[in-house]
Amino acid sequence: DWNSGNVIAEQVAKIRAQVGTGKVICGLSGGVDSAVAAALVHKAIGDQLVCVFVDHGLLRQDERRQVEEDYVKATGIRLVTADVREQFLVALKGVSDPETKRKIIGREFIRTFEQAQAELVLESKETDGDPIAFLVQGTLYPDVVESGGGSGTANIKSHHNVGGLPDDLKFELVEPLRTLFKDEVRAIGAELGLPAEIVQRQPFPGPGLGIRIVGSITQERLDLLRQADAIVRFELTAAGLDREIWQCPVVLLADVRSVGVQGDGRTYGHPIVLRPVSSEDAMTADWTRLPYDLLAKISNRITNEVDGVNRVVLDVTSKPPGTIEWE
Ligand code: XMP
Repeated sequence: DWNSGNVIAEQVAKIRAQVGTGKVICGLSGGVDSAVAAALVHKAIGDQLVCVFVDHGLLRQDERRQVEEDYVKATGIRLVTADVREQFLVALKGVSDPETKRKIIGREFIRTFEQAQAELVLESKETDGDPIAFLVQGTLYPDVVESGGGSGTANIKSHHNVGGLPDDLKFELVEPLRTLFKDEVRAIGAELGLPAEIVQRQPFPGPGLGIRIVGSITQERLDLLRQADAIVRFELTAAGLDREIWQCPVVLLADVRSVGVQGDGRTYGHPIVLRPVSSEDAMTADWTRLPYDLLAKISNRITNEVDGVNRVVLDVTSKPPGTIEWE
């Protein structure tokens, strides 16, 4: 039966067999999956691995610092940060179709790894002058299934690290989590000695806030959503509910406006959607019955503190028929 120690031993052997003495690059997103995938590969091949943290501007508040400081401290992994915020904004400009966004984000991720690869090889101190031929991805089993990679399944969403990959990919992929579910990944992370703040972190999609803005992505909308998301996270944590819920996407309906009143003036602002869900593996989910007082507090804070938002609504849809994310 399932045992995290066995899976680690098995994957370490597999990774070593696949990459030999080759150089490997791994994109860290700040999420659990890539953090555990990188730690697993690091265990297998040590400093043949260099991690690249992609700051694509679609991150949550404080995420970059957490990776650059906390994760590096916990693992001793070699990390470089690619600040590609401008590049992603330009690539996504004017795009509101969800699958198009996902494809663009997937493509820009790979482009960023290729740029980082070129720079690392030029600097050569990271790779001893050897080219980097392998790319680690924290793809999980449900990502594969929902991107249409499982047998007989339809493409529901192109996960940025599966269906969103370009055809001319220059890397060979290393995907040590490809047969695993999230709870198994967490068990492996804990076994590898990663701190609880990383292992127990709620899921956050690689395309980040980009797929939580219904409508096109602008700097202003990202800043607004980031602020609302930080409030929700703060209040859920303060209420001690982090472990009760699977995750709580916060979505900005940028293409919708409604009339409101604030102070003694009319407003015409955007709604924010709260999408708290309970789940075992993200394949199915139910909406979480959060306490009314907590919902009221979150709603008050968002409408008072976030400029341009005058309404907070609660998503009460299970999965299926709704997916967890709105895009
Ligand atoms: P859905 O929206 O398909 O989400 O019900 C299922 C789980 O997957 C996460 N998700 C993603 N994770 N890249 C990721 O790494 C993606 O492109 C992506 N899309 C969705 C989502 O947050 C939920 O946990």
